[in-house]
Amino acid sequence: MTIKETLNFASEQLRSSCERPLFEAELLLAYHLHKDRIYLHSHENDEVKNIEMLKSLIARRASHEPYEYIVGKTSFYDIELFVEQGVLIPRPETELLIDEVSSIIEKENLTSIAEIGVGSGAISIVLARKFPSLKIIATDISIDALNIAKKNIEAFGLTDKIALVHTNLLDGIETQVQLVVSNPPYIARDALLESNVIDYEPHTALFGGESGDELLKQIILQVKQKNISYLACEMGYDQKSSMEHFLTQLGVQYTKFYDDLAGLNRGFITKF
Ligand SMILES: C[S@@+](CC[C@H](N)C(=O)[O-])C[C@H]1O[C@@H](n2cnc3c(N)ncnc32)[C@H](O)[C@@H]1O
Repeated sequence: MTIKETLNFASEQLRSSCERPLFEAELLLAYHLHKDRIYLHSHENDEVKNIEMLKSLIARRASHEPYEYIVGKTSFYDIELFVEQGVLIPRPETELLIDEVSSIIEKENLTSIAEIGVGSGAISIVLARKFPSLKIIATDISIDALNIAKKNIEAFGLTDKIALVHTNLLDGIETQVQLVVSNPPYIARDALLESNVIDYEPHTALFGGESGDELLKQIILQVKQKNISYLACEMGYDQKSSMEHFLTQLGVQYTKFYDDLAGLNRGFITKF
C-alpha cells in the first residue's frame, strides 16, 4: 500500500473510535515510518513497509488504547516522558500546578519538597530541572509507577535530586520537607469515564474514594500533622467547596484556589 492508501485505510479503521481519525492515522503512520507528518504529504506515493506491524498499532488505537501508550511517550511541560500502561498519562492541566508551586519555591527559596503520587515522574522531574538546588522525595503506592518514574528520572540524570519511595502518602518519611505537592487520584468511584481512560489507565491513579476527595483529605491531614508549611494539590473541578470547608476547619493561614485554562477550579495552595 502507498502512504496515501494507508492513510485512507487507517482513518477508516479509526473512524468509530477517534474524534479525528485522519489526524490520528497520520500520527501513527509517521511514528511507524520514523518521520514527521509533513513527510507523509510530500511522499504520498511511496510504499509503506512492514504494513502488518502498522496494522497492529492501528488496531490498538481502534480499541481505544491511548496513543501515548502505543508510542511509549508523551509531551509534558518542556520535556518528553516515557509512559506505558501502569502509569497515568500526565495531563496538560497539571502544568498549572507546577507553575503555582514554582512561584512559592522561588519566593520562599525552598530547597526540600515532597511529591505524593509521583506517577511517571512528570511533576518532580520538571521541578528538579527548574530548581537545581531542590531535593525531592517522591512517593507512590504503585510499584509499576515507581519503575516508570525511575526510568524517566535516570533518563534526565536526576537520581541524586529525586529520591523515590514506595509508600502510602508520606508514611515512614522522616526527612522534614518545606512543601508537599500532589496530583492525587480525585475522581469519584461512580464517575463515567471514556474507554481510553477507564479501560487503560491505572485505577489507583484515578479514583480518590467514593466521593473522590477522600485521599485529598488524608493528604491535608498528614501534611498538617507533619508540620509541613505548604501544600499544593490538583483537585476535581467540583471539589472547591469541600476543600475550602475542610481547610478552613483545620485553621490554615491561607488557601489560594486556581483555575485551569477552561476556567474550572483545578487546585489549591495552602499554608498551615
Ligand atoms: C493522578 S496520578 C498523578 C501522577 C503524576 N504525579 C502526574 O501528575 O501525572 C496519581 C498517582 O498517585 C498514586 N497514588 C494513589 N494512591 C496513593 C497513595 N495512597 N499514596 C501514594 N501514592 C498514591 C497513583 O499510583 C498515581 O501514580
